[in-house]
Amino acid sequence: MNSPIVCSRITGTGSYLPGNPVSNNDLVARGIDTSDSWIVERTGIRYRHLASEQTSASDLALEASLRAIQAAGRVPADIDLIIVATSTPDFVFPSSAALLQNKLGIKNGAAAFDVQAVCSGFVYGLTIADKFIRSGSHRCALVVGAEVFSRILDWNDRGTCVLFGDGAGAVVLEASSDPGILATAVHADGSYSEILSVPGQVSGGRVIGSPFLQMDGQAVFKFAVKILAEVAHEVLHASGMNVTQIDWLIPHQANIRILQATAKKLGVPLEKAIITVERHGNTSAASIPLALDDAVRGGRVKRGDTLLLEGIGGGFTWGATLLRF
Ligand code: ACO
Repeated sequence: MNSPIVCSRITGTGSYLPGNPVSNNDLVARGIDTSDSWIVERTGIRYRHLASEQTSASDLALEASLRAIQAAGRVPADIDLIIVATSTPDFVFPSSAALLQNKLGIKNGAAAFDVQAVCSGFVYGLTIADKFIRSGSHRCALVVGAEVFSRILDWNDRGTCVLFGDGAGAVVLEASSDPGILATAVHADGSYSEILSVPGQVSGGRVIGSPFLQMDGQAVFKFAVKILAEVAHEVLHASGMNVTQIDWLIPHQANIRILQATAKKLGVPLEKAIITVERHGNTSAASIPLALDDAVRGGRVKRGDTLLLEGIGGGFTWGATLLRF
């Protein structure tokens, strides 16, 4: 008798945004040479959340994870794999995933590691967890995107500091006989590394290079729109589906104009795109699970819906996940 094919399925979502929303006008009041109209017109961003100095990525991850675990009807001890996607980890090491495991009180030896793929980190993490579960080695994964991007922003660079925020989103992904995740694709091209980077390192007790995010915004924009459409078609093709079968497009929340251009290039009506960037800015690896959780708790995404998640980040890295929720 053939053993049943093991698939992976999201059983719970959660998210967390620290503190009060900080408006564009709040940034102006803090002395940044910008305006609400410039930011809204170019990016669609109205608010972001900024973590306190004492709050780390694993703290944000903890709050989002507890909500996802509760939504899945699980307890932390059920988790046997923890993947945290972050570019702003608590420390050089140990990983934020290991710190999260401890904060969750998990004592069962669950595997825990971070994934560094910047804004595509959550899609990378989901892809890895799906493969672990399909292999049969693990059954109940916690996949988190958690960022304190405010730590790597140069508040004197108005071209970048207005774009980003802090937050976390999480999902519980479990072994299931029904899909679940239908197709995944992840890619990278390191020849674009200078377009979007934090080109610094800790060495000999000092930061060598720059500890701040730098970006060629227009180059990111062009590459993002092209590659997000391509990778969407790749996962649709892999699962024998077409674009009209997508109920919800949940892209990385970088910028409203990238979201609009990507939906248009793909032929997905904007009403089918989950857009939350207005309320939390670009939270890098956290943005996709934040948007997913918002849509689930808001009653838009329902069980059985077909979702296309897609992200692009520094590296460049990019990827997509097609799934039945
Ligand atoms: N407020 C007011 N004026 C500003 C600001 C600001 N915050 N930032 C830049 N400007 C000014 C510039 O100084 C410049 O002025 P000048 O014409 O007098 O020299 C003018 O606005 C235009 O600057 P550009 O950098 O050319 O602005 P652009 O139209 O390219 O918009 C933006 C910048 C919004 C970043 C755009 O390039 C973009 O949407 N890029 C996509 C990249 C993105 O969203 N990245 C997010 C991270 S990447 C990721 O998540 C994958």
